[in-house]
Amino acid sequence: MIRVNSQKTPFTFESVERESGLRTALAMSRADIIGEIGACNLRGRGGAGFPTGTKWNLAAAARVKAGGTKYVVCNADEGEPGTFKDRVILSGHADLVFEGMTIGARAIGATLGIVYLRSEYVYLRPHLEQVLATRRENRLLGTDIGGLAGFTFDIHIHMGAGAYVCGEETALIESLEGHRGEPRNRPPFPVDTGFNRQPTVVNNVETFAWVACILSRSANWFKAVGTATSTGYKLFSVSGDCREPGVYEFPLGLTVAELLEKVGGQDAKAVQVGGASGHCIPASEFGRRIAFEDVSTGGSVIVFGPGRDMLAVARNFMEFFVEESCGQCTPCRAGNAKLLEGVEMLQRGECSMQYVQELLGLGETMQLASKCGLGQSSPNAFVSIVKHFKDEVMGRTSAH
Ligand SMILES: Cc1cc2nc3c(=O)[nH]c(=O)nc-3n(C[C@H](O)[C@H](O)[C@H](O)COP(=O)(O)O)c2cc1C
Ligand code: SF4
Repeated sequence: MIRVNSQKTPFTFESVERESGLRTALAMSRADIIGEIGACNLRGRGGAGFPTGTKWNLAAAARVKAGGTKYVVCNADEGEPGTFKDRVILSGHADLVFEGMTIGARAIGATLGIVYLRSEYVYLRPHLEQVLATRRENRLLGTDIGGLAGFTFDIHIHMGAGAYVCGEETALIESLEGHRGEPRNRPPFPVDTGFNRQPTVVNNVETFAWVACILSRSANWFKAVGTATSTGYKLFSVSGDCREPGVYEFPLGLTVAELLEKVGGQDAKAVQVGGASGHCIPASEFGRRIAFEDVSTGGSVIVFGPGRDMLAVARNFMEFFVEESCGQCTPCRAGNAKLLEGVEMLQRGECSMQYVQELLGLGETMQLASKCGLGQSSPNAFVSIVKHFKDEVMGRTSAH
């Protein structure tokens, strides 16, 4: 269920007329479709917040190599701890996601779309295949889509195999090609050299759903809410110590405090915004805005009540990263293990204040020197918990 908590505009995906976005797009030039997505400044809903119009422009301009084709990939890996909004979108609004992918294909000139589906969501596959089959019957996929001569596009589903790092777009592409899911060096970027070395757009499930809504309702409609640099609505997966966990829709720019009030988590001690790789926000900073320019997130919000042991929280996250690091680069492979070891030492009362400082330095090195977003962001939770819960952490250090 999507709980709608937008005060200004009571919008939900349910209220958008199906296929009206695609109809509009098919009557437009490719450049105008991308122009509309750029005009509302839609930013990717998968976490990094990259402008979707810019990504699509680059892919549209990129040249196909040796008789290949361009690709549109929907990132449905949803592996970030605390995130479950894409599962809800795919369960209830798969047609909107496929519509957005078809609009993307038209915009960049792709002929094949692939949904990279988290392995645990295999139970959703029959439903998704059914929606795709109906779209083929209705000529919303296949050849001459929507009566537009020459517009050929179809969508396949590819199951992931259960690795968090495969949500990173270049590891995802490696996995699609049948290789180990290890991130690639960049550049070249997927928009130029992606799946099968061809131009590829990778976008999050929610991003595609909003694309369909924007083409249906207009760029002005979308950018009328949110902040100047974080426009529109966002879905949030809220879990933890609150009265009403669930998937919520809010305009970007609301404060952490406003969100907590809606979900019944006013007595929270801290909120982890952005999942395990995000930041731990203490109560003194609940006035901060959830937006790409302040506290940014792909949608995961985990609430920690007054009784939570923040070192236990840090340990939980570090265990996750040690398990999920692909091991390709040393700062991440060794760094996460060192940070976990440090947290365990703190829990046993065997870690000195000086060693905590060294671990913070190690965290900085990992942020700077790791090859992909996993290692660059994995120290965030540890660093922010040490910074904001100094008394709780330093109170457990040893003299030596
Ligand atoms: C370790 C790691 C895991 C990621 N997992 C996901 C994921 O599950 N879903 C997702 O959409 N993006 C994920 N991303 C971000 C993708 O690399 C990419 O930025 C995103 O799919 C682009 O889509 P967007 O621009 O629509 O957000 C992950 C990134 C990293 C570094
Ligand atoms: S940062 Fe971690 S997950 Fe990313 S490439 Fe390096 S070892 Fe692999």
